[in-house]
Amino acid sequence: MTQTSSRVDDYLERGLRHLWVHTQQYNDLAREDGLVVIARGDGIYVEDSKGRRYIDAMSGIWVVAVGHGRSELAEVAKRQMETLPYANPFAYATEPAIDLATKLAEVTPPSIQKAYFVNSGSEAVESAVRMAKQYHYNRGERRRQKVIARIGSYHGVTAMAMSLNGSSYLNRKPFEPLMPGVIHVENINCARCPFEKTYPDCNVFCARHVEDEVKFQDPNTIAAIIAEPISTSNGCWVPQQEYWQILRDICDRHGIVLIADEVINGFGRTGKWFGIQHYPVEPDIMTVAKGLSSGYAPIAAALASNKIADAFVGEKQDALAGGITWGAHPVSCAVARANLEIIDRERLVENSASVGAHLAEQLQELRRRHRVVADTRGIGLMHTLEMKRNPETGEDFREEDNVGNRMPELLREQGILARAGAAISIAPPLVINREEVDQVVDALDQAIGQLERDLGLA
Ligand SMILES: Cc1ncc(COP(=O)(O)O)c(C=O)c1O
Repeated sequence: MTQTSSRVDDYLERGLRHLWVHTQQYNDLAREDGLVVIARGDGIYVEDSKGRRYIDAMSGIWVVAVGHGRSELAEVAKRQMETLPYANPFAYATEPAIDLATKLAEVTPPSIQKAYFVNSGSEAVESAVRMAKQYHYNRGERRRQKVIARIGSYHGVTAMAMSLNGSSYLNRKPFEPLMPGVIHVENINCARCPFEKTYPDCNVFCARHVEDEVKFQDPNTIAAIIAEPISTSNGCWVPQQEYWQILRDICDRHGIVLIADEVINGFGRTGKWFGIQHYPVEPDIMTVAKGLSSGYAPIAAALASNKIADAFVGEKQDALAGGITWGAHPVSCAVARANLEIIDRERLVENSASVGAHLAEQLQELRRRHRVVADTRGIGLMHTLEMKRNPETGEDFREEDNVGNRMPELLREQGILARAGAAISIAPPLVINREEVDQVVDALDQAIGQLERDLGLA
């Protein structure tokens, strides 16, 4: 359904005047066709207010696992709102929260048993770090305040989560000094190893060097290590098999809490329920969000093993400090539980693995076809296509190439919504099939070809 042009223009005008769009520069939005108003969605498709239809090739932002337009989830939300819209999470439980916590205990690694529900990935990270610090505090290890995170990683936007970020995606400078005691270690990147080593001769030094830092800092001052099982913001790097075992061993030997940030990886995105399940280890705490509700309601969680949770059993002051008014919101919990049932019933984790393998092959084909495509990598339905002006010399695009604005536009012209610049993220809803993946790849082919022609690089 196309809206009247005066209504469309009215929304665009008021959108520019009153709505603060996250992360965007106003000047970019104010350009011709800069602000896009998404009006509706159905399956893997979304439509904007001008009636243009796109494949949602990023699932919003790694969120809409089960696809758009699931009236079943709307029904669940309606029923829960009518039954009980809200209860005080500082004092009481609700049935939807207990049901969701039970379901999560079933699908997560066996040691993960307890769910602390919040509203966003940033709050989940914040809660996980709070849990780790108070876990040590309650056990009498009160010097354990430092947290190890990795360069290139993204963990959120609240003050503590922002302190953990090692990614240039978010400009931390205006907010410094941030939380003291965050130590950033190198991330994995087998194409451009920060240690200039090559696997397997490197002996997975990117994991082993973390122990040198732990020893240098004094292990008795380290509360936690936090990392995404499969690093996304750093560009979809899939660690070698040994990587997580080495981190787990370091944590075990030095009494450090291991936090797996599954905010993007979780709920089938990587072809398993959780990214960590690609590795033979279990974390102490997992953070989850995004695919937990597929975006049908805001919800996230810090999920803990009994080892962690048991340290909070005792006197009143031993309880985890702090609560959040919208925490364990019954409507969000009910919707998330129904969303997980859809993922189960429609075997979307398996679909992510098999259709994702097809996507990986097709992206490699694009690399063979286009000079500017330097690398494609990923797992399940979570991939990155990396472009350079000249992959042979490693020359990046120039500022005047304007790839950050140009690439999303070229993709939109081909009917694709994706986060794109020199790197393009491809993470469609888990319901996508092989033919639809081929459509996405054809569109990428056209858009990249156009970029090459525009820049004289064809
Ligand atoms: C790995 C990771 N952790 C945490 C977050 C923060 O989540 P939110 O944006 O829901 O606060 C993100 C957001 O993209 C993320 O990618």
